[in-house]
This record gives sequence, C-alpha cells and structure tokens, in this order.
Amino acid sequence: FNKKEFQTDLINWFLKNQRQLPWREDKDPYKVWVSEIMLQQTQVDTVIPYFENFIEKFPNPVALADADEQDVLKAWEGLGYYSRARNLQFAVREVKEKYQGKVPKDPKQLGDLKGIGPYTLGAIMSIAYDQPEPAVDGNVMRVMSRVFRIDQDIAKAKTRKVFDAVVRDVISTEDPSSFNQGIMELGALICRPRNPKCDLCPIKAHCQAYRSNTQTDYPVKSKK
Ligand code: ADE
Repeated sequence: FNKKEFQTDLINWFLKNQRQLPWREDKDPYKVWVSEIMLQQTQVDTVIPYFENFIEKFPNPVALADADEQDVLKAWEGLGYYSRARNLQFAVREVKEKYQGKVPKDPKQLGDLKGIGPYTLGAIMSIAYDQPEPAVDGNVMRVMSRVFRIDQDIAKAKTRKVFDAVVRDVISTEDPSSFNQGIMELGALICRPRNPKCDLCPIKAHCQAYRSNTQTDYPVKSKK
C-alpha cells in the first residue's frame, strides 16, 4: 500500500470529477457547517435548494443568531429533524456572544458547540480550515472498510473510532479538504452500497476488497 499514491489518486480524481455543489463555492466555515448539518439526514439533491435559500436568508452566524426562531424553522420546513435547526441557531448565538460571530477554528471550542458531533467537527476542520481531521460517516466507513477490508461492525457505536484512527493515518496533510471530500464523493458516485462501479474507481489499485473481489462483503453491518 502506497499512501502517497493513494492520496494523489483520490485527490486528483476529486478535483476533476466533483459535483458543483453550492456549499463548495467557497470554504466559508459557516456554510460548510450549515451544509453538513443539512446533509446528515437528508439527500444531496433535496438539500441543494434548502441550502441556497437558507444562506440567502441567513448569510452568516450573526444573521442566524439574530433571526426569529420561527423564521429559521420556516426555512427548515420540509427537511425534518427540526432539532438540527434549533441546535444550529443555539450554537451560532454562542458563536456571536463568545467568538465575535466568527466560527472558532479551535477544535475544542468548535466541538463544544451544540449539535457539532465528531463528524461535523472533522468536516468543518478539514473542509473549511484545511486541518487533517477525520470526518467519518456511513459513506466513509463503507469506502474505507473496502479499501482495507476492515470487518468491524459499523452498526456498533464504538466502531467509528476505529475508522477515525484509520483515516487519521492515511489522510493527506497537504490537502485534507479534497481528501475527505474525495472519500465522500467516491462513496456517493462510485463506491455505492450495492453494485460499486469498481471499473471506474480511481483508487482500485489500492483497494484490498477489489483485489480479492470481496467488495460486497463490506462494510460488515449487524442487524443490531
Ligand atoms: N455528504 C456529507 N457531506 C457532504 C459534502 N460535503 N458533499 C457532498 N455530500 C456530502
């Protein structure tokens, strides 16, 4: 396994093949934050118009902090899981009061904000702040379980930490943003749960499951 080649193959593919998505137009940590919260329980295609409308109405943390909760919930209508919107507004009010309206770059401060769990923390730190932090969700576990034939049960809560450690070991320190988004994009476009398009995969040369033709044995997921 050649780590450097793995990183460059993934990153070059991402830079060439990534979808143009509204939260990829710049690296504003607030926009990355909003998008990642929306994307947690909702499909990309559904999120796009909500994200655009939300950012138009609440373009920065202070605007969202100063908004009426009812207007925020109205903009969230249809996305569901409204606690996400309430937590987000609660958190930006803290950002306004404690951090002068600037999304903190310190992972301890960022991770203490309401609604920011390990995944969202890693996503903001890497995508917006270019820090080599893992951002492990279900898609990332699927991709990495195949690349390294990791047979830990992804239905178990403590398994995320195993993947965290794996990503921490292989993440590019030169471009952690493209690395993490590349894994996400690969999971969405190529390394699908069923019928992965391995022939089109930019990292098949590095993939243990591909080599042993065991792609569909991964990830291991118990019925819980
Ligand atoms: N799913 C979760 N985060 C994502 C992102 N930043 N882009 C596309 N899909 C995602």
